[in-house]
Amino acid sequence: MRDVLRFITCGSVDDGKSTLIGRLLWESKQVFDDHLSALERDSTRYGTQGDAIDFALLVDGLQSEREQSITIDVAYRFFATPRRRFIVADTPGHEQYTRNMATGASTSELAVLVVNAAKGLLVQTHRHARIVSLLGIRHLVIAINKMDLVEWDKEVFEAIVEEFRPLVRELGFQSFQPIPISALNGDNITEWSDAAPWYKGPALLKYLEEVDATMDVPNLKFRMPVQLVNRPTHDFRGYCGRIASGEVKVGDRVRVVPGGRESKIRSIVAWQSELPSAAAGDSVTICLADEVDVSRGNVLTSSSDPLDLSDQFEARVICLSGHHLVAGRSYLMNLHTCQAVATITAIKYRVDVRTGSHLAAKVLEMNDIGVVNLSTDRPVPFEPYERCRRLGSFILVDRISNETVGAGMIDFSLRRAANIHWQAVDIDKQARARQKLQQPVCLWFTGLSASGKSTIANLLEKRLFATGRHTYMLDGDNVRHGLNRDLGFTEADRTENIRRVTEVARLLVDAGLVTIVSFISPYRAERELARSRFEPGEFIEVFVDTPLEVCEQRDPKGLYAKARRGELVNFTGIDSDYEPPVSPEIRLDTVHESVEQCVERILHLLEHGARLQAKER
Ligand code: ADX
Repeated sequence: MRDVLRFITCGSVDDGKSTLIGRLLWESKQVFDDHLSALERDSTRYGTQGDAIDFALLVDGLQSEREQSITIDVAYRFFATPRRRFIVADTPGHEQYTRNMATGASTSELAVLVVNAAKGLLVQTHRHARIVSLLGIRHLVIAINKMDLVEWDKEVFEAIVEEFRPLVRELGFQSFQPIPISALNGDNITEWSDAAPWYKGPALLKYLEEVDATMDVPNLKFRMPVQLVNRPTHDFRGYCGRIASGEVKVGDRVRVVPGGRESKIRSIVAWQSELPSAAAGDSVTICLADEVDVSRGNVLTSSSDPLDLSDQFEARVICLSGHHLVAGRSYLMNLHTCQAVATITAIKYRVDVRTGSHLAAKVLEMNDIGVVNLSTDRPVPFEPYERCRRLGSFILVDRISNETVGAGMIDFSLRRAANIHWQAVDIDKQARARQKLQQPVCLWFTGLSASGKSTIANLLEKRLFATGRHTYMLDGDNVRHGLNRDLGFTEADRTENIRRVTEVARLLVDAGLVTIVSFISPYRAERELARSRFEPGEFIEVFVDTPLEVCEQRDPKGLYAKARRGELVNFTGIDSDYEPPVSPEIRLDTVHESVEQCVERILHLLEHGARLQAKER
């Protein structure tokens, strides 16, 4: 079997990237005859090359199609020579397309940066080199194109290479090959060209055919993430998946991670036939000698070299969506076949892809690449990305919209999950609640500023107190004077504000108290996160649903007026979003109901309905 090289091309149309790819497809005879006659026709009609074929049209035809669509922004092209098959990820080169490069680079082993000899090195080339390096590519070619325009001047070529070399050293590429080419004339593309007798290196295609661009650590032992547990009959149980690294033979000892149970390989099945062994890249079903508990997301590994588990990571993350990645917010994380809830606990820095410098950041915006700390809700099996791409790369998915908002690479685990323990205590929540003769709950008020949250919450607390309940109220304005004094009103700060208050409320409920939280809490994601930190029935979302116009009329602190005058920025409802609850336990209409009526309804729910409602959820 011929092996495959996947590579990404970067550069702009101006640099001749499309012509180069067109040329590679052409020279490797991957252009069909009908396509070819269309190309000849179009070349004379639209091309820039007189009667000669304009190779750029070959790929640009697809490109314009692509640019209209917002979803398919990486084009994969295939071609082959007798030596190798190639998959080229072709991505648009503009500044705002970092995320497309990330998509293309995630499956590539090598990058070809196209440089225009007539223009010299541009900031963009530096940017592309940094991005592909951040995305884990270790093999680099710079194709210095349009050499014919500079009369194949050796000095021009060498000056570009020398200018580029320090960056190659800084970024630690394992291999680096500069090649002078003319994509237009076909020099140094498939065959070495005597246009540059001074160049002794290989032609581009020849280099691509021969380069050893393996990404993962060689000799990594057997690892297979389990995709599916296949139990067609009582006496067959197989674990299906694609082998991520190493080899495995019938009889080998393997371990299941997490859990650590060991067994032996009884059989390896592929396409209904049994195999004596299998290796990285093969999709197989593995049967074990013993009945051990294995489920999707577990990893079968060689027992002599099992992989790590962790719930704390440092990772490089790229923001793929218009929705910022925010510290404190939690996302669904898909890491190989395993799914977990991951929270960005800190954004350590954002990388300036032009200079490589580290910038402070509270959020990552679309196309930003940053280094973050992540914590997952349970230990997950992984390998650092540098060791194994499949076991070290993940995506982050918004828990409410299901949109893919980020992609990342694990650099290392921050600690081993095995070292973290819960401190067991003898006096627990139940004991504390019994002593107070009450059921602890968290009543979470959400709504716009001046919607009436605090007024209603205040009367509610008075009524509960009067009937002997043990209560505590956490109010946005008050908590922001103490615990959260360091936080403002950006999306990131509000997220952190709510995260901290959630944790405090959890402690108060654990202390057995009826806890009232009154915060705008404008984002669904954080309110859902808050809910997930409580037991079913313990979290009661009270939506104080007062229309913006009414709040603005009331304006007790004059803040809406200030915001309208532009003296207060990020004001909820004016220039900062409020996402209303989708299914709150209770919705209050302060326009038609009095404060007393609202309080009565909440008390009624507390007495009769809350637990019942929880069951229905
Ligand atoms: S939250 O959005 O992070 O939940 P929180 O409830 O803590 O907000 O604080 C809201 C209170 O801060 C408002 O009632 C108002 O008095 C005050 N405030 C000051 N600036 C703003 C702002 N930009 N947006 C909303 N509230 C603000």
